[in-house]
Amino acid sequence: MMKSIFGKLMWSYLAVIVITLVIAILATSQLFSHYFIAAKQKELVRQGKNIAAILTETGMPTRGGAMFLRQFELLVDAQVLVVDREGFVVGHGPGMRGPMINRRMTPADLGDVLEGKVVTQQRYYPQFDRTMLAVAVPIQSGTYVTGAVLLFTPVADLSATIAAVQRLTLYGAGIAVILATILGYWLSRSISRPIREMSNVSLAVARGQFDRRVQVHSEDELGRLARNFNRMAANLAKLEKTRRDFIANVSHELRTPLTSIQGFLEALKDGVFPEGPSRERYLEAAHRDTLRLKRLINDLLDLASLQAGKTGWELHAIEPAELVHRVSARLKPQLDQHRLKLRHNIPENLPPVLGNEDRIEQVLTNLISNAIRFSPAEGTITIAAVSKSDTVEISVADEGPGIPPEEQPHIWERFHRVEKSRARDLGGTGLGLAIVKEIVEAHGGRVWVESEPGKGSIFSFTIPVVP
Ligand SMILES: Nc1ncnc2c1ncn2[C@@H]1O[C@H](COP(=O)(O)OP(=O)(O)OP(=O)(O)O)[C@@H](O)[C@H]1O
Ligand SMILES: [Mg+2]
Repeated sequence: MMKSIFGKLMWSYLAVIVITLVIAILATSQLFSHYFIAAKQKELVRQGKNIAAILTETGMPTRGGAMFLRQFELLVDAQVLVVDREGFVVGHGPGMRGPMINRRMTPADLGDVLEGKVVTQQRYYPQFDRTMLAVAVPIQSGTYVTGAVLLFTPVADLSATIAAVQRLTLYGAGIAVILATILGYWLSRSISRPIREMSNVSLAVARGQFDRRVQVHSEDELGRLARNFNRMAANLAKLEKTRRDFIANVSHELRTPLTSIQGFLEALKDGVFPEGPSRERYLEAAHRDTLRLKRLINDLLDLASLQAGKTGWELHAIEPAELVHRVSARLKPQLDQHRLKLRHNIPENLPPVLGNEDRIEQVLTNLISNAIRFSPAEGTITIAAVSKSDTVEISVADEGPGIPPEEQPHIWERFHRVEKSRARDLGGTGLGLAIVKEIVEAHGGRVWVESEPGKGSIFSFTIPVVP
């Protein structure tokens, strides 16, 4: 039972209750018996004084006045004994055993009572053969002590009362422990149950059931833990979906060109194609598919190593203007082929940026290739750069179809294309911008798009300047 949180809570709770009760009961019963005996003593003294006052008025009883004292005993619930000023017993109530008249009480029995002091004591009296609570009150007329009244009550009687009270306290404590057990059980269960549920659900999630959620709705720490756990499970589910989509996408992208290559090769093997221009065309297409496959696989590998954070690039100071001109020059044939104009808007003396030259060229090439792909014939592409605090911002603007706002957050995802069929006809696989984003962010920069459908798009990214 101690192995579970429930058991631990329950036991520690009960232990605290029981220990507290035991201490409380011990302390109160001690206090109570002291108080009870003190009160009884006080009561006896008061009654002794009353009797002494009466005896002062009536005069000392003659020896053997037991019948007279009997009435006192009826009143005071104690055994009454009267001694004269020498300590000889002149009378006692009927409750006392054996003839005591004329016996002399010992100085130990009397204490200082014959000197006019009230004496109380609690000890064993051989006359009674038991422990008694005794008080002795002097009988005085003026300052002259004529004798003393002694009152005895057996301590056993008091103990019985104390024991009865203690028994009652114990019953109370028993009921308290039972109530505490019920409450503790309820409390421990209300804490341990959500934990157990979370443990079960987390096991299920660990086994791949990402749709399982914890049903804990409290506002306390456990509720917060449950909400965080559910959030984690939801994220895992999303991740799992991304992974599946990715594999499905990759398979699909690989299958399309492979199928066409396979078809071509089979036709070639069966000798369906005669020599001639049509065969030349199919060969051309198969070659294009092969290149496409290779590019796709390269992009995938590239993206995988970027996402794994395995960059290991050397960083150098790069002149942004030089870089832009170099990439533009390399893309010149494609621009000409699509009859596109390229405009540069690059100020002189831009600060050098810190980055990997090949990778930043790759970013720029991807962005300009997209711009070329989506520009209308005769369109203009503008490459601009500005220095902004400790970064240089480079942007590529086109006059293409633009990107709808709801698509803009998604174009950075792998394989995401806005118009699926058209984009594939245009030769894209949807990996370019994912690679761009990884590279820019690995450099500590930012990349974003501003676009209005029908008015073109502006893709911008920042690269930190050399510190
Ligand atoms: N300049 C642009 N104008 C309009 N849409 C664009 C532009 N650049 C990107 N897009 C949209 O974003 C999608 C993703 O772009 P991305 O560069 O990642 O893929 P791709 O160009 O289709 O393929 P890849 O770059 O892998 O050859 C594109 O398919 C297109 O729908
Ligand atoms: Mg692209």
